[in-house]
Amino acid sequence: MATLKEVYTSCENCQKCALGATRTNLVFGVGNENARLMFVGEAPGEQEDLTGTPFVGKAGQLLDKFLFAVDIPREDVYIANILKCRPPKNRDPLPEEEDACIGYLREQVKAIRPEIIVCLGRISAMRLIKPDFKITAEHGKWFQKGGFWMTAVYHPAALLRDPRKKEDMLEDMKAIRQKLEEGSAEK
Ligand code: URA
Repeated sequence: MATLKEVYTSCENCQKCALGATRTNLVFGVGNENARLMFVGEAPGEQEDLTGTPFVGKAGQLLDKFLFAVDIPREDVYIANILKCRPPKNRDPLPEEEDACIGYLREQVKAIRPEIIVCLGRISAMRLIKPDFKITAEHGKWFQKGGFWMTAVYHPAALLRDPRKKEDMLEDMKAIRQKLEEGSAEK
């Protein structure tokens, strides 16, 4: 099994899809390499592309507020995306881009071995939980898959567009905190 550092190295100069040519920085992932809780978003946005760090723009700052609200330190979790390079103008990832990139995420998950994986938004949930995932109906539901507890919450960018979703987000985040306290699995 590859270490996180080895996965990073294999990803560093990746040109498996066209986004390798247009990225400013690879946005590999950030956080605790022994995290019990891992968040997976969709793809880097502008700020992430500029800094090389996931979820540092407006959506990321809102995610930070929810983590703070439920008393989960950002340093305790690991945060990554399905895609490691920014799609132009933040368009949705193309299936072939996801196919090219998903192996890196799988290797990251294997190296970190979290207990809980939280998909941030529909695109991540459709890729990681099930292809027909419906975020409005199924956010906050728990799924057991591949030895992990998995759930999805609204993407923080969706909360910026529709603040009425924030109440649901808070409830889902509280449930994630609760699941962590239950110690859902031994590491
Ligand atoms: N949106 C995402 O899905 N990921 C990021 O890293 C930033 C915004």
